[in-house]
Amino acid sequence: MRIHVYETEQEACRAAATVIAAQLIRKPDAVLGLATGSSPVPAYLELRRLYEAGVIDFSRARSYNLDEYVGLSSEHPCSYHYFMQENLFSHVNIRPENTHVPDGDAENLDATAQAYDRAIQEAGGIDLQLLGIGRNGHIGFNEPGDEFIYGCHVVDLSESTIQANTRFFASEDEVPRKAISLGIGSIMSAKTVLLIATGESKAEAVRDSVCGPVTPKVQASILRTHPDAIFFLDRAAARLL
Ligand code: GLP
Repeated sequence: MRIHVYETEQEACRAAATVIAAQLIRKPDAVLGLATGSSPVPAYLELRRLYEAGVIDFSRARSYNLDEYVGLSSEHPCSYHYFMQENLFSHVNIRPENTHVPDGDAENLDATAQAYDRAIQEAGGIDLQLLGIGRNGHIGFNEPGDEFIYGCHVVDLSESTIQANTRFFASEDEVPRKAISLGIGSIMSAKTVLLIATGESKAEAVRDSVCGPVTPKVQASILRTHPDAIFFLDRAAARLL
């Protein structure tokens, strides 16, 4: 695992976006694993800027998002489907049929999860996986627990995640209690993993992932065993390293 620390959130996200841009230049039909949450937003802004400047082209790119809430339709403004449209897809020339976000509104969620893993495998696997990190060290929605779950699966969200994500909803009661998430196996199978962590609230999760034991209690700690994982941190998130 490599760690790059930048003065500001803006710089950390720009650096991560530059690696994504390089991936698209080297492999125009790259399979991108994409993430939601506040952390990658400046990176998506930078990718939009590079696209508008004619530096990168998404016309052959394919994308698979990490996760989605259970029970929200894709039109719900708090859904990750909606987030991706707003922050990236509607601003670049990625083909809608090449973008994928797990369907958290499906009737049979287990079958949906298995089909999602199969689709990623059939696409050739993820070339580059972008991640944020939860305050409890989660990646995707892989919550702290006693094991690393390999495949895409349905998750019961922890109390701390529900509270952290309440800021996006009108009230805590509206935050879904379940989500569908790529598993640790799919994330670890990505050829390159980029994790963005910015702000004081991520400092403990970053420290525990980077300096503590590799444990499912801190799911991001598994990235230490990945051959090409890079953490992009701002000074605040790196404070305890
Ligand atoms: C959610 C997402 C994660 C994300 C995390 C942190 O739980 N499922 O993929 O990394 O939030 O979000 P933020 O970047 O907003 O702090």
